[in-house]
Amino acid sequence: MNVLILGNGGREHALALKVSESSLCTKLYVAPGNAGTETIAENLSFEGNENLLELISRKEITFVIVGPEKYLVDGTVDFLRSNNIIVFGPGKDAANIEGDKLFAKKVMSDNNVPTAKFIEFSNSSSKEDIYYYLKKQKYPIVIKANGLAGGKGVSICKNIYDALDAVLLNFDEKAFGEASNKILVEDFLEGEEASLFIISDGEDYVCLPAAQDHKRIGDNDSGKNTGGMGAYAPADIITLEVLKVIEETIVKPTLMGMKKIGIQFTGCLFCGLILTKDGPKVIEFNARFGDPETQTVLNVIDGDFLELLYSAAKGKINKESVKYNGGTSVCVVTASDGYPDEYQTGYEIFGLDHLKDMLVHVYHAGTQSKEGTVFSSGGRVLGVTSFVKEKNFAEAIKLAYRGVSKIHYENIYFRTDIGKRALR
Ligand code: AMP
Ligand code: GLY
Repeated sequence: MNVLILGNGGREHALALKVSESSLCTKLYVAPGNAGTETIAENLSFEGNENLLELISRKEITFVIVGPEKYLVDGTVDFLRSNNIIVFGPGKDAANIEGDKLFAKKVMSDNNVPTAKFIEFSNSSSKEDIYYYLKKQKYPIVIKANGLAGGKGVSICKNIYDALDAVLLNFDEKAFGEASNKILVEDFLEGEEASLFIISDGEDYVCLPAAQDHKRIGDNDSGKNTGGMGAYAPADIITLEVLKVIEETIVKPTLMGMKKIGIQFTGCLFCGLILTKDGPKVIEFNARFGDPETQTVLNVIDGDFLELLYSAAKGKINKESVKYNGGTSVCVVTASDGYPDEYQTGYEIFGLDHLKDMLVHVYHAGTQSKEGTVFSSGGRVLGVTSFVKEKNFAEAIKLAYRGVSKIHYENIYFRTDIGKRALR
């Protein structure tokens, strides 16, 4: 089949590489793609749904895989499906599990899915009520913008001053636009986090090996939240026993709960989990693969990944299409210094050729190529990702950082402790 992947990040480069290895893939396209995807697929550009549909028909594309959330929540998937295109990714109503945190909380509370307790305020709530509520709380607490905020809408508040700042950020500064119209004030949960990708055909599902992300910008999980500064897979804290609990208390009730209200989730349900002393709880759901977790998860599965996604999209998932391969993978994100705030781009990236012989994949995220030369073009620039065939985190970490040491561009920034948690 001719396959199109939508998106332009490190996740899409990793998806593209995995899909390109399938014998079912005849021709692969990525739109808009980046300097990495253009080395393994044809990058396409489009503007708007009609143009996309015309492109799909002209290139005889038979299957579309959606990377980022924007194409899910803006209805692109529904539009393509209504034009008889087979798509991997949930429609707008199901993608609300990510795009509307209050909807996600409702699905969870209706189906007894464990998550943090919360209260909702809107920008028309009285300031006195908010202040009174915040004053009564035990800190830390968590304040979240209700809508999509590119992973930046969560404030962990150590005291009431932080909490009032977070309220101001959303309601007065409208930092995340419409996403800031409502906020959730949530209990702070303690425990280790993990990301679990569930590939579902709407009813049945497959769990991919769990991963751990490194959300904060600084070493030892310090500083601001980012889209993710590195990851590793598998996450050993998700033992088979824990996974069973997660499936019974979170995955099945969520998928079935949505189905009960007429919402079929076909795609990747990303369970952002925290393992508390009272068991696993949901921090958030996403309706797509995670970035940079995908870069590691896809390295530790063997089999036909395209078959997995295609069978799910067709409504009858082939649960045998992939399996854990026993290996370990670590991804170190190299960013532009300043990210997640302001940063400069447009710097030439050196050293990519040196990595071709090493056991690392360099997934491109914010890159652009001009006449064969690759330049930085975003906050997260590359995901240098190792794979070792056995369970050996120390080796996988060493390999990934050896890869990073070969890369040079002006204002490169990366964390130096990715994967350390796995060594404990
Ligand atoms: P999110 O964008 O919802 O994944 O949140 C970003 C990060 O904020 C998470 O990965 C957690 O580290 C942290 N976080 C979010 N909600 C909570 C919570 N209720 N308790 C503790 N930490 C949280
Ligand atoms: N790495 C977290 C996310 O993709 O949302």
